Amino acid sequence: MKPVKKAVFPVGGMGTRFLPATKSMPKEMLPIVDKPLIQYAVEEARAAGINEIIFVTGRGKSAIEDHFDHSYELEDMLAKKNKNDILEQLAQILPDEGSISYIRQQEPLGLGHAIYCARHIVGDEPFAVLLADDLVRADRPCLKQMLDLYYERGGNVVAVEEVPHEKTSSYGILDVASREDKIIEIKGMVEKPKPEDAPSNLSIIGRYILQPEIFDHLAKKQLGAGNEIQLTDAMAKMLGDSPFHGYLFEGERFDCGDKTGFILANLAFAMERPEMCEGIKNYIHKNKLLI
Ligand code: UTP
Repeated sequence: MKPVKKAVFPVGGMGTRFLPATKSMPKEMLPIVDKPLIQYAVEEARAAGINEIIFVTGRGKSAIEDHFDHSYELEDMLAKKNKNDILEQLAQILPDEGSISYIRQQEPLGLGHAIYCARHIVGDEPFAVLLADDLVRADRPCLKQMLDLYYERGGNVVAVEEVPHEKTSSYGILDVASREDKIIEIKGMVEKPKPEDAPSNLSIIGRYILQPEIFDHLAKKQLGAGNEIQLTDAMAKMLGDSPFHGYLFEGERFDCGDKTGFILANLAFAMERPEMCEGIKNYIHKNKLLI
């Protein structure tokens, strides 16, 4: 079984749900407490042992490149002020030389198209995909949990969670062949089905391990839901050719592409900080925000 060494981060979307905040700032740079979403995702990949990072960017996304590079003026100023702890934190963001590549998705034609744009850098090997706006809080990184399954069973793996039945039209939904505890054998998948058409309430979240054959299907550039080239449609075409599993990961996922999910993620991560927790609790009490 080939090892997974590369992770693709599609960051070419327009982030329309977050306008005007995302007019000139990438959605992936929105902070959860004090760290941008994209940094959480890159750290998750690294914690799972993946160090080759591929960003699929678009116009107006240069802040992401700057974030993963030196900022000499800032570093110089911090050094002069002996702010060594912050300097240390900034140093940890920097990738090994040459381990990050950037590919431009010239038009935001959909997630499937963004992945297709990475085909030459990925080459003929399995790879991971992480969507930074799906933030997963977990003791064991979500991608690590998935890789453990991949090294046991091979093929393709997607992370899965249960969603309320009435919300299926917001997600890619699985048709289940069989289930043993957290492992689901998939027989079909459909992007954003109406609740009455949904084959289950198991939704795919933004974590994938894929075989390179996905590029053959994406090359057909078929338009799907929302008139976009959908990754789910290409994945559905691979079913039956190689193993395809869903994994009900352990942890909590926040949909940070959505305003409520973003606020909840900020609250959850802030409450883990001893220096912030008291102030937040006091505010909630004082303003009687608990019903
Ligand atoms: P979303 O469906 O959240 O779209 O994309 P979006 O454009 O980012 O945000 P909204 O819906 O307009 O608010 C899911 C992921 O796929 C990437 C996004 O950057 C995000 O990580 N994506 C989407 C691309 O890279 N390219 C695309 O053409 C579309």
